[in-house]
Amino acid sequence: MSRILVTGSNDGIGAEIARVLDSQGHHVIRHARSVERAGGAGFVVGELSSLQSTREMAADVLRLGAPEVVVHNAGWGSKDESRPVTGDGLEQTFQINALAPLLLTALLPRPRRIVFVSSDSISRGRIRLDDLQHEQEWTQDAAYADSKLAMTALAFALARRWPDVLSNAVHPGWVSTKMSGYAAPLTVAQGADTPAWLAGSDDPEALVTGTFFQDRQAIEVNPQAYDVDLQDALLTRCLELCDATLS
Ligand SMILES: NC(=O)c1ccc[n+]([C@@H]2O[C@H](COP(=O)([O-])OP(=O)(O)OC[C@H]3O[C@@H](n4cnc5c(N)ncnc54)[C@H](OP(=O)(O)O)[C@@H]3O)[C@@H](O)[C@H]2O)c1
Repeated sequence: MSRILVTGSNDGIGAEIARVLDSQGHHVIRHARSVERAGGAGFVVGELSSLQSTREMAADVLRLGAPEVVVHNAGWGSKDESRPVTGDGLEQTFQINALAPLLLTALLPRPRRIVFVSSDSISRGRIRLDDLQHEQEWTQDAAYADSKLAMTALAFALARRWPDVLSNAVHPGWVSTKMSGYAAPLTVAQGADTPAWLAGSDDPEALVTGTFFQDRQAIEVNPQAYDVDLQDALLTRCLELCDATLS
C-alpha cells in the first residue's frame, strides 16, 4: 500500500479518486485550497494559484511523509471574459494547471508514480513557447486547452527524465462536476476510474510511462505533447517561471 497525495480532493473527481484509493487501503493525503473548502480535518491546504502557498503546501505534505504516488487532479478554467493574472503575475489557468503540478513535483522527493489529470481539450491546444501565458491573445478555452497540453508535455518530459518513475496523463471523460456542469454524462465514479487505476494498480497496462490514457486505454494525443525538444524547452521555461529545479 502506498502513501498517495491527491490534489483537489475536496470535491469532484479528486474526492472520488481519494475515496477509491482510501478504500483500497492506501494512505491518502487529501488536499484543498483552503480550510473552508476542505470542510473538515485531515486535508493539507494550498492555493495553487500562489507559488508561495504551493511551496508551503509541499512542506506540509513532507511533514506527513513523502508520497510514493502523486495525483495532480486539481484544475481550473476561467468563466470570466478577461485574462486572469495571479499575485505572482502569471496567467492563472497556466499557473494552476501546468506550473503548480510541476512546482509540487520539484519540491517533493521523486515518487514512484505521477498521474496528471489532463483533458481531451488538448486536441485543440497549442504550446507557444513565445506566449505560454496568452499575453497576445486570451480566451477561456484556449487558456484551458493549452494549459492542459503543457501539463501533458511536462508529464512526458518527466517520464523521459526520470525513467524510474511512471509519469502518465489521463482524460477523465466528460464528468458531471461543478467545473464541467452537471449535464455531463459521466459520474465522478466513472471519471475517477482511470486516474485511480493509474495511481494504484499493478496491472501491466498501468505500469507504463509517458502515456496518455482514457478509459484505461492508451491513446495518442496532440503531437506537440510528444515533441521532445518542445518538452525540454517547456520544462526549462516552466522551472524558471516557478524558480524550481528538478533532481
Ligand atoms: N469534469 C470534466 O468533465 C473534466 C474533463 C476533463 C478534465 N477534467 C479535469 O479533472 C480535474 C478535476 O476536475 P473536476 O471536474 O472534478 O472539477 P471540480 O469539481 O471543480 O474540482 C477541481 C478541484 O481542483 C481544486 N482547485 C481548483 N483551483 C484550485 C486552486 N487554485 N488551488 C487549489 N485547488 C484548486 C478545486 O477546489 P475547489 O473545490 O475549492 O474549487 C477542486 O478540488 C481537473 O483537473 C479538470 O481540469 C475534468
